[in-house]
Amino acid sequence: MKRRRMIYEGKAKILYEGPEPGTVVQYFKDDTTALDSTKKAVIEGKGVLNNRISEYLMTQLNLIGVPTHFVRRLNMREQLVKEVEIIPLEVVVRNVAAGSMSKRLGIEEGTPLPRSIIEYYYKSDAMKDPWVSEEHITAFGWASPQDLDDVVNLTIRINDFLSGLFLGVGIKLVDFKVEFGRLWENDYMRIVLADEISPDSCRLWDVQTGEKLDKDRFRRDMGGLMEAYSEVARRLGILPES
Ligand code: C5P
Repeated sequence: MKRRRMIYEGKAKILYEGPEPGTVVQYFKDDTTALDSTKKAVIEGKGVLNNRISEYLMTQLNLIGVPTHFVRRLNMREQLVKEVEIIPLEVVVRNVAAGSMSKRLGIEEGTPLPRSIIEYYYKSDAMKDPWVSEEHITAFGWASPQDLDDVVNLTIRINDFLSGLFLGVGIKLVDFKVEFGRLWENDYMRIVLADEISPDSCRLWDVQTGEKLDKDRFRRDMGGLMEAYSEVARRLGILPES
């Protein structure tokens, strides 16, 4: 069904040329990878859930004035987004210690952090997305100090809003990763949220039981990934059409 020209194929998504200039179609695959792509699987239906969950979260963020690349969902696996120049950073926000932070700093998983912490990783498959500082980012020109300022301000707003949104449905937003892009409109540039926000890119724990409702179920061979993602969608009040 490849009726559009492919622009880029990533690990979990494909980008196609959009119907109008300045637009891109973002296709959500069922492919699931972890451990720098050394672990791979196809989990049927995952792309459908992530498309729907990301649509919902981006739409809610748009409503509170966080600019995003999202335009509209086209079908079960595709959404129309604005074409942006991706800033080559994975911006991670942590509210509770988990994952690589727990490993690197020896802080037990589940330990609440004294305050939310933002980390940056340079997007490079070859270098396995190394941890970098603001100094690296501005010195190497991956983002200007002004761009980075916008990124930080948006990231803080996204974290505040999503933490509350998830808490309202009994889910703790432990950490997540976001990406940003430069959107050019009439010679005017602004930084917008891009890529996706889904259980692939967040750690989501049930508030009551601590059950993991995110990609750690795959990373840690726990099984039940589709059930977990469906539970997130169900609690958010959205379930994809069957
Ligand atoms: O692995 P780590 O603990 O650094 O991940 C922090 C958060 O960023 C997790 O929610 C994880 O799902 C997300 N992440 C991601 N893509 C990556 C690395 C991390 O979505 N390449």
